[in-house]
Amino acid sequence: MYSKCISIFLTLGLLLLVKVNGYIVNEFTGQCKEVYDYLKSIDKRENFAGCGMNENEEITRLNLYSYCLKDEELSTALNYTTIETLEFRKLFIDWNIDDSDDINIVFRFGCSRLPTNYEALSHLTNLKELDLRGVKNLNANILASIPKSVEKLTIINLTFTQEIVDVLSNLTNLKTLLLSHVIISDELDYSNFEKLINLTDLEIVNEYFYEPTLTNNDVPGNMLKHCNNLKKLTISDGIFYQQNIDAFGNMSNLEVLELDGALFNNDFDFSSLDKLNNLTTLKINCVTYNYEYKHLTFNFSTLAKLKTLNINRCLTSIRTKGNFEF
Ligand SMILES: *[C@@H]1O[C@H](CO)[C@@H](O)[C@H](O)[C@H]1NC(C)=O
Ligand SMILES: *[C@@H]1O[C@H](CO)[C@@H](O)[C@H](O)[C@H]1NC(C)=O
Ligand SMILES: *[C@@H]1O[C@H](CO)[C@@H](O)[C@H](O)[C@H]1NC(C)=O
Ligand SMILES: *[C@@H]1O[C@H](CO)[C@@H](O)[C@H](O)[C@H]1NC(C)=O
Ligand SMILES: *[C@@H]1O[C@H](CO)[C@@H](O)[C@H](O)[C@H]1NC(C)=O
Ligand SMILES: *[C@@H]1O[C@H](CO)[C@@H](O)[C@H](O)[C@H]1NC(C)=O
Ligand SMILES: *[C@@H]1O[C@H](CO)[C@@H](O)[C@H](O)[C@H]1NC(C)=O
Repeated sequence: MYSKCISIFLTLGLLLLVKVNGYIVNEFTGQCKEVYDYLKSIDKRENFAGCGMNENEEITRLNLYSYCLKDEELSTALNYTTIETLEFRKLFIDWNIDDSDDINIVFRFGCSRLPTNYEALSHLTNLKELDLRGVKNLNANILASIPKSVEKLTIINLTFTQEIVDVLSNLTNLKTLLLSHVIISDELDYSNFEKLINLTDLEIVNEYFYEPTLTNNDVPGNMLKHCNNLKKLTISDGIFYQQNIDAFGNMSNLEVLELDGALFNNDFDFSSLDKLNNLTTLKINCVTYNYEYKHLTFNFSTLAKLKTLNINRCLTSIRTKGNFEF
């Protein structure tokens, strides 16, 4: 019974590997072949999840599963300073599944333990995009290894501490930040985020489990107040209070505001949006179980560039101040 399972997994693994991002593994050359051969030599070829090279056959993109890799094995696989895009994959699409004891992972990778030392990241001085979704044991130390060159960062399952906020604030080349299932306490000091002058695209993804929990889904108004250069802000499954809405008022460069699964805790006045002369897209999808009837009040008279207005499923009345034709 077990051996049958194992052979199914191996076959699946082989099928996956035969075509990784359009490459036939046997045809790999250059440094991609080097990394693949290295992982194969330590019996970890399942950890290889894709690779790309420049015309000199140097690695510019690497996708890895880090399950069961030892710290020194990870360092060896990352020993290529030409890497620009690095993705640590998570096996399940659903980011919130805790896969630490998953039997598929143990079968496929040998164990589900993750590396603890990501110091090798700090040598990747050409790194532009870093996806840490497969690194769910994130902490300030790991984040401190991220090189300053990074422009796009994806992190998952983390509780912000002051140290983490300060470490992230040092990544001054950041343009795009995606925070998934990150607990962003309003009690911390986010003024260092003002150093992130190039941060124009922020996405915050939460997930209501059964019902919204007030602490984990609060929209982090205090952090947003210090992200004044945003052009695009997306928040999924956030609970809004008036002060969070007011925090939008200083984002004078904001072009796209998307609130998905929004739950409004009170009646709301969106007057803060009046100042957003550059806003072209406003989308609000409310959660279906927004229990009480809420009033959302807009003054659309100054939103001259607004092209897309999409308000869905809100069990609310929309009131407009001034003249605005829907
Ligand atoms: C990284 O590569 C250099 C040579 O390019 C080598 O000297 C060094 O030992 C390697 N480090 C690791 C951790 O594999
Ligand atoms: C989130 O991180 C904690 C602490 O590292 C860990 O115990 C938990 O399993 C993680 N959750 C998920 C869904 O990965
Ligand atoms: C941020 O960078 C500055 C200057 O490089 C450094 O002095 C400081 O220790 C860094 N802070 C953190 C939290 O890493
Ligand atoms: C912000 O981006 C500009 C243009 O891309 C770049 O020249 C500058 O160094 C970046 N600023 C910081 C603080 O990294
Ligand atoms: C907007 O910016 C001004 C000046 O920096 C500041 O005094 C004010 O508190 C900010 N408002 C909000 C809602 O963040
Ligand atoms: C709108 O965007 C332009 C260009 O990005 C900027 O110069 C201007 O200050 C923004 N408008 C407002 C009201 O801030
Ligand atoms: C709507 O906004 C405009 C421009 O900021 C302001 O002049 C006007 O008084 C506002 N209308 C209402 C009813 O608040």
